[in-house]
Amino acid sequence: MGYPFQSVLFLLDAERAHRLAITSLKLWGAIGTPFASIMDASHPVEIAGLVFPNPIGLAAGLDKDAEAVAGLFGLGFGSVEVGTLTPRPQPGNRRPRLFRLVEDEAVINRMGFNNGGIDSALARVAALPKRRGVLGINVGANKDSDDRVGDYALGVAKAAPLADYITINVSSPNTPGLRDLQSRPALDELLAAADAARKGEKRTPLFLKIAPDLDRAGIEGAIRAAIDNHVDALIVSNTTISRPPLQSTHAAETGGLSGAPLRELARAKLIEAREASGGALPLISAGGIDSPDEARRRIDAGARLVQIYSALVYKGAGLPRRIVRGLNARG
Ligand SMILES: Cc1cc2nc3c(=O)[nH]c(=O)nc-3n(C[C@H](O)[C@H](O)[C@H](O)COP(=O)(O)O)c2cc1C
Repeated sequence: MGYPFQSVLFLLDAERAHRLAITSLKLWGAIGTPFASIMDASHPVEIAGLVFPNPIGLAAGLDKDAEAVAGLFGLGFGSVEVGTLTPRPQPGNRRPRLFRLVEDEAVINRMGFNNGGIDSALARVAALPKRRGVLGINVGANKDSDDRVGDYALGVAKAAPLADYITINVSSPNTPGLRDLQSRPALDELLAAADAARKGEKRTPLFLKIAPDLDRAGIEGAIRAAIDNHVDALIVSNTTISRPPLQSTHAAETGGLSGAPLRELARAKLIEAREASGGALPLISAGGIDSPDEARRRIDAGARLVQIYSALVYKGAGLPRRIVRGLNARG
């Protein structure tokens, strides 16, 4: 699963490469479970009563349908976030919709919440052998839904018994109008419904994931709404619709940009979120993290955990373990 495997993946178009990676991880999960002890749990982090064995998590979107969870934990992640899952299955946007920007170490995607629906993913989660790390379930609304708040509430109610935490994703740029849910009063209504939906014998922690394209006032509003509605942590951030200077021929593709060109923005938004929250909300940083140094910078800037996705494409499947080891070496 290191560099040679990657060169094979780079011969394929991005979405086929993604499919092959998921299939391989599935197999790796099936045969790799005996290696449970390789999970590095020397620097646990606690958020909302959950103990994350290490601070490196897989960001949502790689394993949307929870097909390869065991294999992903086998790569050394302390947490794996599956989804985004919607109440009903949906095909997503027309292909091509996933682009590697190799010269920029970036990805642009306009997948559009392609997923098999929350029920089939939850059935796979329920059938998992004992988990080694923390499992997050990221929920969203169907594109053609006429009750988006209802979709989120349903997702939370269904995921709550099985998830270690649930992420409310209102920050994907690929479902028209979705990101409008990030501003108040829409966000208050949505989070109140999500908070109510998780009430049961187990109060599953609720995380909110925001876009890096929110300005300072937008971040402040989202944080206020999150705190008022008992959200347990904020993930900063999803992909950006902005376009910093890029070299690749795919630079003009529509969609969310992630990877190295998102790094500065994601770091800046983390700092804004830290200032705006004054420590009242645990922060999780995502966006362009590709090394132990960058993970350390985010932690020093106020993140309790970090999540990665795009760097796996360029730095290989050994990256989570390298980051965990690198962080440990720095103490
Ligand atoms: C192909 C692709 C699909 C994604 N799908 C989702 C998704 O379904 N839900 C979500 O919350 N974030 C999704 N993301 C965003 C990532 O979880 C992450 O927030 C973002 O890519 C920034 O991190 P990175 O620079 O390490 O990739 C997706 C990202 C990529 C590249």
